[in-house]
Formats: sequence, C-alpha cells, structure tokens
Amino acid sequence: MGKYQAPRGMRDLLPAEMAVFQRVEALADELAARYGYRSIETPLVEDAGVFERAIGGATDVVEKELFRVVTPGDEKPKWAMRPEATAGIVRAYVEHGMQTWPQPVRFSSFGPMFRYDRPQAGRYREFWQWNVEAIGDAGPAVDAEIIELGLRWLREAGAGDVQVHLNSIGDANCRPAYVAALGDYLADFTDRLPATERARASISPLRVLDSKEPALAAVIAAAPDITEYLCDACRAHFEGVQAHLAIVGIEGRPAPRLVRGLDYYTRTAFEYYVVGAEGTQQALGGGGRYDGLVELLGGRPTPGIGFAMGVDRVVTLVAASSPPELAVPVAFVVGADPAATDLRFRIATELRTAGIAASAELGVRKLARQLEAADRDGAHFAVVVGDELEAGQVQLRDLQAGTQKLVNAADLAKEIDRASRTHHHG
Ligand code: HAM
Repeated sequence: MGKYQAPRGMRDLLPAEMAVFQRVEALADELAARYGYRSIETPLVEDAGVFERAIGGATDVVEKELFRVVTPGDEKPKWAMRPEATAGIVRAYVEHGMQTWPQPVRFSSFGPMFRYDRPQAGRYREFWQWNVEAIGDAGPAVDAEIIELGLRWLREAGAGDVQVHLNSIGDANCRPAYVAALGDYLADFTDRLPATERARASISPLRVLDSKEPALAAVIAAAPDITEYLCDACRAHFEGVQAHLAIVGIEGRPAPRLVRGLDYYTRTAFEYYVVGAEGTQQALGGGGRYDGLVELLGGRPTPGIGFAMGVDRVVTLVAASSPPELAVPVAFVVGADPAATDLRFRIATELRTAGIAASAELGVRKLARQLEAADRDGAHFAVVVGDELEAGQVQLRDLQAGTQKLVNAADLAKEIDRASRTHHHG
C-alpha cells in the first residue's frame, strides 16, 4: 500500500461500482423528469448557520457531525460541508425569490453529502443522496406523490422488497404537548440515559427517540405514542396522506417512534426499509414535511416536503443482486506491425468520429498480445490493420462469431454498424 489512503469513512468508487451508481442515478434523473421535478445544484459548502438553524443545534448532524471549514484569514470556521441537501435548497428558494414562481416548485438533486459520523457498514463520512423536494404545497396529495416516487425508484432500481414506514410528528400546535409528555416520561429514566441523551432529554426530548444507543431501545419502545397527541388538523392531514397512498396501492407501515434525526420536520415523516431488514437501523432513505423551514431561513411562511435516498446503501443492495456491466468497446483496433501505433490511433479516432465505441492498442506489442487485449475488453469486433491497408482495406474480425472478412477502410464504420445490427449473439 502507498503512503496515502482515502480519508477514513470516505472511499473511491471504482468503475465496477460506478456502473451501478450511474444506473441508479440515470433512473433517478429519468423519474424526476417523468414526475416534473427539475434539477438543482447548490454549493457543497454553505454558511454553517444554514445548517445550524435548519437542522437544529441539538441534533447529531449539527452537534457532532458537521465538517466545518476554516477559510484563509478566518480564525473560526464560518462554513460547513453540507450534511444534507434540504437546508441549502430552501436557502436557494428564499434567495432567488422562488415564492413568486408557480407553486409548488419541484426539485431533484443528486450529489455527495458529508457527516463526521463513526464509519461502519452503510455509514460513511462522504455519501451520496438523491434528494427530491416540493416546496409550496401544503398537501396531503403531494406527500403521497413524493412517497410514491421514492418507492418507485427503490423498486425499479432493484433494491428488493421495500416498504415505507410512515408517521406524523404533528406541528407547532400539538407537538409541544407531546414533547412535554415525552419529557416527563424520560425524566423517570434520567439515571439510565447516556450523557448526550440526558442533556437532550431536557432541551429536545424528541431527539432521544432517534438515539442509536442500544441501551435505550426498551425505554424508547415504551415511550408515549405521538399519534395520540395530534391535533385535528394534523390528524386530518395524516389520514389524507394515507388515503392518497391507498389510491395508488401503497400501504405505509405505521411507525409511531419514527421522528427523524433533523429538527425541521412537521407532520408527515417517513423512511424506506427493505422488508425484514428494519432491525438493522439502515433506512434506504427518508424524508418528511418541513412547513416551518422556509420561514426559519428568512422567507415567507411556505410549506414543503421531500426525501433523500441513501444512494450508497441502494447501490450496495443492487450490486449484490444484479452484477455490474461495464461499458465495452464495440471495436478494438489492432495491427500486424507493433510499432504502427499511429495507424491504430487514426482508425480508432475515425470510428469514434462516426459514433462507434472504439479502443485501440496504443502500446507496442505483438499482434497476439493485442488480440488478447481486445478479447479481455469484451469487444465485439477486432479491426486488424495489416499490409492490406496499402490497398485501402483492413480485416474486420467478429470476435464473437469467429468470422473475418476484408473490408474497405472507408466503409469500416458502416460495416461495423451493419454487422452489429444483424448479428445477435445471445
Ligand atoms: P436523512 O434521514 O438524514 O434525511 O438522510 C437520508 C438518507 O441518507 C438516509 O436514510 C440514509 O439512507 C442516507 N444516509 C444518511 N447518512 C448517511 C451516512 N453517513 N452514510 C450513508 N448514507 C447515509 C435527510 O438528509 C433529509 N435532508 C431528507 C429530506 C429531504 N427531508 C426532506 N427533504
């Protein structure tokens, strides 16, 4: 091993993994377009205040996991790498006055996120999310649209038997009563709570519910049920979401302890899991409504909802069930004269100009070695450059059929195109 390695919790995505990665990304792009969600990119770093305000100071994500960035001339870090996309997208919505656009504004975004978490299987310090938001519609139909879109992507990508876990966490109207009841309940266990959770039990009791601390599992399981505290409006919204989902054949699994790890949520909260793998605490994705977030970041009160998918986790699942297919050249240009790299380079370039995926042997080696390389690359055809080139011809060898013929170099692209269309080799 060399002197340097990728930073802990971050990794290189090599071509085989990238093949799956790009497949699920292309599917996300295609579905986003099909559903009318438009692409947006926001910076990888933001003013740290964007995350502190939006996500909340007493969350793991802000308190322990923010990658803060010290810029030249600053003593204290002012910026932070984005740990998620929603806060930045809402910041952009406010900054660009998008409340004057036709509402809701639908966004799709695919990219890396950074959280200084303890690395483990399926948990990285740099990871990728597919993020979808609809800002400016109070729902509940748009909630169902978003939830269905996420489920479709997971299923079509090949993540397996996936189910959505569904909850409502109320709003500013009804949540305080629940939080108070939860606080009272947790007070009985103060001496059993680890230090972080003990501090949070008084500031932000909801955060205790998504604690990853194994010792707390039993305490959390017996905690009061938020759905019993919902006000009429929140209850009606929750029922509306379920009714809209039922219309398209989706039954969310009730998940009364699901509160999500970020403070901006109101009402609808959901997570996607592979059926049977819920216990591992590895959600494939999650999201919810954030009706107070636009206002919190300085805009007019505007409702919103969205999800983020954990692309790394999905890629791992998909790669296990359908092995990656690397792109292969259609044609591989080889030659009898090992030194004639110029001819091979020129012919491959001409094929590429004609739109054919072509590779060429650019090293100086014997023809037999060159043909091995063509085979290893999985090329359909080898173009063999030899003495016939003086008469304007090359050998076109079909490596799959084992046949070979002389063709005019000028017609090579057309010949390859025709031959790859008419031959079907399983
Ligand atoms: P989140 O639940 O924090 O939500 O992250 C969404 C998904 O990202 C998780 O379910 C998981 O699959 C993946 N993920 C999170 N952390 C890691 C990690 N360290 N390593 C690998 N994968 C990870 C959000 O980020 C919200 N912004 C979602 C949202 C959008 N809510 C409304 N709109």
